[in-house]
Amino acid sequence: MAGRRPLVLGARVALAHPRAADRDEFLAAVRRSQPLHDPWVHPPATAGEWSAYLRRVRGRERFAYHARRLDDGALVGIVNVNDVIRGNLQQAFVGYYGFAPHAGHGYMTEVLQLVVRECFTTLDLHRVEANIQPDNAPSRALARRCGFSCEGFSPRYLRVGGQWRDHERWAITREAWASLGRSSAPPTVG
Ligand SMILES: CC(C)(COP(=O)(O)OP(=O)(O)OC[C@H]1O[C@@H](n2cnc3c(N)ncnc32)[C@H](O)[C@@H]1OP(=O)(O)O)[C@@H](O)C(=O)NCCC(=O)NCCS
Repeated sequence: MAGRRPLVLGARVALAHPRAADRDEFLAAVRRSQPLHDPWVHPPATAGEWSAYLRRVRGRERFAYHARRLDDGALVGIVNVNDVIRGNLQQAFVGYYGFAPHAGHGYMTEVLQLVVRECFTTLDLHRVEANIQPDNAPSRALARRCGFSCEGFSPRYLRVGGQWRDHERWAITREAWASLGRSSAPPTVG
């Protein structure tokens, strides 16, 4: 984590917003994670896509949290908080992916729990939604572990990999999150 002040500190990971200097490391992680990501997500894979992504997540409606392992600074995964809607909804949509070779070690569970906490505290949201393809067992399991519930099924909801795909709508409200007792997780430091 040298030279980088984390935004959120967890037990095994720290979250920070991405910086331009992260580009090459990020693109290398995306390249080696293609077997993990395919066919579920299509992260930025070129310098141009990375620049467009950085511009997108620097607004007031979209935020990216990149997670590094505390031990050695390895980039283990990311959660994007997309399309923050204020007014009477106070909601955002999350998208996430881990990076090889760190999947299956519980890092993304901690990362998503920390981001959900950020959503209900720092971002003052009321609801966080994740749309997941029914066959994506690891993503459904992750959402469930983090306290999301499946609210329904949306046919041909989202275009992924050029095709309109069915999705399940998973969500967690601030009240459901508070009932999990995770609001006293490690403190935000930035
Ligand atoms: C979805 C995705 C992020 C889930 O990641 P993951 O690696 O399963 O999640 P975690 O890092 O929390 O690891 C969980 C696993 O680690 C295990 N684990 C090992 N050590 C652990 C520890 N110390 N603490 C918690 N869990 C631990 C858990 O038991 C679990 O294993 P299981 O799946 O066999 O039950 C990942 O599969 C991915 O990137 N997929 C491609 C992109 C994608 O589908 N994104 C979502 C689109 S909706």
